[in-house]
Amino acid sequence: MAKHLVWMALLVALSAGNAAFAEDAQAVSRGLAVYENNCAGCHSVEANRVGPKHAGIVGRKAGSIKDFSYSAALKKSELVWNKDLLARWLTDPEQVIPGQAMGFRLGNVQDRMDVVAYLATLKAAPLK
Ligand code: HEC
Repeated sequence: MAKHLVWMALLVALSAGNAAFAEDAQAVSRGLAVYENNCAGCHSVEANRVGPKHAGIVGRKAGSIKDFSYSAALKKSELVWNKDLLARWLTDPEQVIPGQAMGFRLGNVQDRMDVVAYLATLKAAPLK
């Protein structure tokens, strides 16, 4: 009986883990669609456009792409992008870094969570 319970607990733990993983994968693929629909007009992963490139964004210092011309406010900010900060930035960039120059907000909370899950998968581009 006790053995039974251990196996049950193990099974529940395993399937919960898999469910979380499946959810992540789904968030990332939804996030890619959100990115293409909302961000790609101004951004890309590997190249600067109207906005800076996003490769390696999670863990990167804000305003640190050398060949992109940032607003003074973003350039001098000492922030480092993490998932939580990115979600706040997309909610209201001006609230995170007053004087910044990104005229865009992502109003839907699910879209924000998904696009941040996607951004977190972007590897850093090789250093030039
Ligand atoms: C209308 C154009 C536009 C759209 C749409 C837009 N951005 Fe931006 N984004 C910019 C600009 C311009 C900057 C640079 C702002 C500055 O210099 O203050 C920027 C900066 C950023 C930064 C800071 C990057 C760094 O190197 O520090 C992040 C992160 C970001 N955008 C994410 C996004 C995401 C994610 C989306 C889509 C959900 C998005 N942006 C949509 C124009 C845009």
